Amino acid sequence: MAESWVNHAERIGADLHLELSGPGGRRAALIRALREAVRGGRLAPGTRLPPYRSLAADLGVARNTVADAYAELVAEGWLTARQGSGTRVAERTLPLQSAARVPREVSPHTRGPRHDLRQGTPDVSAFPRAAWLASYRRALQKAPNEVFGPGDPAGRGELREALAEYLARTRGVRAEPGRIVICSGVAHALRLLFGQDRAGGGGVLRGPLAVEGYGLGFHRRLLRDAGVRTVPLPIDAHGALVARLGRERAVLLTPAHQFPTGGPLHPERRATVVDWARARDGLVLEDDYDGEFRYDRKPVGALQGLDPERVIHLGSVSKTLSPAVRLGWMVLPERYVGGVLAAKGEREAWASVLDQLCLADLVASGAYDRHVRRMRQRYRARRNRLVQALAARAPHIEVTGIAAGLHAVLRLPPGTERATLEAAARQGIALDGLADFRHPESDLPPGDGLVVGYATPSDHAYQAALDALCGVLPPPQ
Ligand SMILES: Cc1ncc(COP(=O)(O)O)c(C=O)c1O
Repeated sequence: MAESWVNHAERIGADLHLELSGPGGRRAALIRALREAVRGGRLAPGTRLPPYRSLAADLGVARNTVADAYAELVAEGWLTARQGSGTRVAERTLPLQSAARVPREVSPHTRGPRHDLRQGTPDVSAFPRAAWLASYRRALQKAPNEVFGPGDPAGRGELREALAEYLARTRGVRAEPGRIVICSGVAHALRLLFGQDRAGGGGVLRGPLAVEGYGLGFHRRLLRDAGVRTVPLPIDAHGALVARLGRERAVLLTPAHQFPTGGPLHPERRATVVDWARARDGLVLEDDYDGEFRYDRKPVGALQGLDPERVIHLGSVSKTLSPAVRLGWMVLPERYVGGVLAAKGEREAWASVLDQLCLADLVASGAYDRHVRRMRQRYRARRNRLVQALAARAPHIEVTGIAAGLHAVLRLPPGTERATLEAAARQGIALDGLADFRHPESDLPPGDGLVVGYATPSDHAYQAALDALCGVLPPPQ
């Protein structure tokens, strides 16, 4: 059996893995392998095949064997041979339809709703492509060769330095580069802190973990899968009732902007939770997912600034740039740095070192600040338009929480959430109900509401989405 990766990218633009096995000698095996590659769709119609000589060299067979196999497949109609254009896969061959080859336009992930008001995404049409490319180019040009070797699990020094300055300046985080560990986002940070699996492998903290009574279900499930029991805290308009913290040793909070209900953690509660952590040798995990986006005033500084030895500050570029970038950071109390690095392993396995350098350049050059400022203005205007539309067309519907972030919660009359979501779905509007975010063990009375991601549509689609939303809201009761 001969096996080879045939790399003729410069001539045919495709890599082809051929396995020569089975009865009948090498010629027969090559014919079978090529036929299979065409039939399975790995060799698309029109693809140019490698010249005899190079395929023969790659497979370790005689040139004539390849020439004979091609001739046979031309005769059968699988391939065509034309002077000057080489041997190609015939245009009329029909590859097998398989899940991997579902045409893009019918993929369930690309069709999308008519109006997308789901929370969780920035306006992806505003990704700063030109600035990202310019930073990538600069970063690659000045990168020493060692950059292309295995990465340091702490993250690139350039990025940790740029973030230390940025987080101190914009969020009041006390962040020397040595306390920062780069990861692929907040979800990854939670995995690293609590272990990857039910056996708790790799983590530095143990449950139970107190969480807000409303929060991201994805995080709760991720923690459950790591074997961590989450204990819901009641919340109100001033954030979590941290005075109710019980026997847990750690609490996960969204202090700048409670997710999703929208209140900032009250100053007294900020002090209370830090005192609690000091008294219990506990820890506060601060999820600062959208801390840069406050529209009515300067954002409240990060809780971590109150006590860097008791608060782990978590952030990412998922709201500022895109959740597809997968870059985030943890600012750790000194005593946890070693454990988190051990959990990450010997070398960087998640956060692309090249993307780290690109982000470092974006931040250090000021392009990241400019982008955040631009998006802040855009989202502020979006939120204002939502509030104005509701005031005009559905004044009985209250928008809760502060003017901040990328989503708003609309309180609905009791018992109307499900029917409103169904009406929205019929109109092609995708959005989330508040119930989806409620901790299953929360003893808070279930409040009816909609979580509206006003950042999600692109600018040109926003007005139509707002109109559609207003059209499905329940009447006053
Ligand atoms: C509450 C909350 N935390 C954190 C994040 C960011 O998660 P990640 O950094 O894993 O993309 C999000 C979504 O962007 C969020 O809604």
